[in-house]
Amino acid sequence: MGKRIGILTSGGDCAGLNAAIRAVVYHAIGTYGYEVFGIHQATLGLLERPPKVKELTRTNIRGLLLTGGTILGTTNKGDPFAYPMPDGTLLDRSQEMIEGYHQLGLDALLVIGGDGSLAILRKLAQQGNMNIIGIPKTIDNDIGITERSIGFQTAVNIATEALDRLQFTAASHSRVLILEVMGRDAGHIAISAGIAGGADVILIPEIPYDIQKVCKHIVNRRELGKSYSLVIVSEAVKSVEGGSMTNVVGLGESRYGGIGQEIAKGITSEIGAETRVTVLGHTQRGGIPAPIDRLVASAFGVAAVDLVAQEMYDHVVTWQHRQVVSVPIEKAIEHYQTVNPEGTLVKTARGLGICLGD
Ligand code: F6P
Repeated sequence: MGKRIGILTSGGDCAGLNAAIRAVVYHAIGTYGYEVFGIHQATLGLLERPPKVKELTRTNIRGLLLTGGTILGTTNKGDPFAYPMPDGTLLDRSQEMIEGYHQLGLDALLVIGGDGSLAILRKLAQQGNMNIIGIPKTIDNDIGITERSIGFQTAVNIATEALDRLQFTAASHSRVLILEVMGRDAGHIAISAGIAGGADVILIPEIPYDIQKVCKHIVNRRELGKSYSLVIVSEAVKSVEGGSMTNVVGLGESRYGGIGQEIAKGITSEIGAETRVTVLGHTQRGGIPAPIDRLVASAFGVAAVDLVAQEMYDHVVTWQHRQVVSVPIEKAIEHYQTVNPEGTLVKTARGLGICLGD
């Protein structure tokens, strides 16, 4: 019998979300004859009465493969169990969202999200007898069990391109140029882009940095006739002495940010180098998805619909050993994937003579 599927994007956006939505719609309608409903702005659409949804058809999703963002909208502030109210209080609105799901008569809900969204939606599903299937996305690449997440590679490409551009201006002015990238508590973007973009110093949250060691490396380079240096720093790095830098944004929430300036100040005061800082920020989440993100998104979308057909709920699609493999959501989110300080990429960076701040 034909099924009715809901789909939502949750948490921070990234490149490739629309490619996943497109794959779900093509396969669900074309192969199985299902109906697909896009839920507006993550779980927020389930709070509206009637729930705010749009039927997705092969016609209205045309052209999505190349587009950034999410046609469904998203939020990283829609926690059903601690929903931020206008007066600043947090309210449990989980029951309203569950009712929204049931009002739509859905057989399954596909959740395109990171570890936080998958954990929250799983709790909601258990409480409300909802059938959910997860599709991993995050530029941070920190979901434990999957080797690939939608959006990561595009972010790495953007950060690498930024280093490529900074190289020439750094050399022209004999400056130390610092590029601050996102990634939350995992340094995957910094280590990957740093190696690919020829950074001289890569600082990641997994390896506390010592500013003296960073400066020594820059001075050594100067002595070898290299008058400039490129430093890539992940937003959540910590010095050997202290904590990470956060800023308050919006309604009292804090976000990582500002460490690039801190490192620049340290380098200037220690060795008198002229420094400049570039903060890549949300450019890492936008733009046309890289081919690999379109590919992963398409494979995940198709596999997720197959899980609906098999009624394999409470599972997430993952990429492992060149294949899409489904695993229980619980298993997928139990481990937060940081950069392994003994792993291949750190060894590669060290082998190339890149300073990791330790
Ligand atoms: O998790 C994705 C991410 O882009 C992180 O890398 C970053 O720390 C955070 O989201 C920024 O969140 P916001 O979009 O709320 O500023």
